[in-house]
Amino acid sequence: MTETDFIPKPYSKHIESGDFTWSSPSNIALVKYWGGKKQDQIPENPSISFTLDYCKTTTKLSFSEKENKENFSFDVFLDNEKKDDFKPKIETFFKRVERYLPFLKNYHFKIETSNSFPHSSGIASSASGMSALALCLMSIEKVLVNDDLKINFIQKASFLARLGSGSACRSLEGDLVVWGEHEDVVGSSDLFGVKYPFEVHENFKNYQDTILLVDKGEKQVSSTVGHNLMHGHPFAQQRFEQANKNLKDIKNILKSGDLDAFIGLVESEALTLHAMMMTSMPYFILMKPNTLQIINKIWAFRESTGSKVCFTLDAGANVHVLYPENEAESVLKFIKSELVTFCQKGEYIIDKIGFGAKLL
Ligand code: DP6
Repeated sequence: MTETDFIPKPYSKHIESGDFTWSSPSNIALVKYWGGKKQDQIPENPSISFTLDYCKTTTKLSFSEKENKENFSFDVFLDNEKKDDFKPKIETFFKRVERYLPFLKNYHFKIETSNSFPHSSGIASSASGMSALALCLMSIEKVLVNDDLKINFIQKASFLARLGSGSACRSLEGDLVVWGEHEDVVGSSDLFGVKYPFEVHENFKNYQDTILLVDKGEKQVSSTVGHNLMHGHPFAQQRFEQANKNLKDIKNILKSGDLDAFIGLVESEALTLHAMMMTSMPYFILMKPNTLQIINKIWAFRESTGSKVCFTLDAGANVHVLYPENEAESVLKFIKSELVTFCQKGEYIIDKIGFGAKLL
């Protein structure tokens, strides 16, 4: 598949107005995407993520045909409140995807969105938000082509979501999604996410993710700025090679159910992501003292109980605590008694692996 395969044939149907609503989840990467080519969210290395279940965005996209077809026209609402500060990001997204969705300037759009997780939780809403919006737009295109889409609906939605926010292309399906070309993953692509096509051991079924909200503030450094700091980064090439190797290794781990190897790979990926941030120029530290407290507590708990709990991080201070379903009760007890004290206002979100976006 190449980019041009996503440019549609002239539309055969006309529609004046309507609306579609999709909910789309967030995801948490096990092998991280950190560093992209100069344009269009083409990743430097393949990544793989667990799709989440509870953390999601629901977006209703209403559209009505307009007279003037020269500009994009839209309003954005978050929880029924007009959000003009979201507009530049969406305008950029519309510009990037117009080539693939040539109807965009024909309509005025009302985008009404809400998240299942608290607004200022420091949890990225771009993956769930951009994937939900991409799906709503695809639902319109499906009508315009009279149900005769020449390509896979989810694949194009993932392709479009990527142009909004790279990791968003991994949010449409579950339970594991790979984005970025890798020789061992048939069908993998830099352009969109694909459902992980191989056998997964029972140990990973219904895996749990409790998200500890250590810092609920705005992100100190946007992912886009962070990705760009990998250009000319002294360790970039080694990092991209490592991610490729980790993707190869995780395939065997997911098949064999080797939880110790899983822990080693996932925690190393999280710390490497932060090591890249600490060694870029300018450099930054996104972990907080409480992030380290939590990590040390997890290691001590593992040491003393033999638990298979582990952590991963995204580009911030919050900690994703990952554990197998058969430990759900004991780990949650540990989280409540020993880790919640390090969360801002004691807040955390109990989540688990999910199965992707839904048309409502
Ligand atoms: C650390 O997808 O948020 O979460 O493409 O600039 O929107 P943009 O970046 P984004 O980057 C995600 C980075 C990460 C790792 C990951 O999810 O793979």
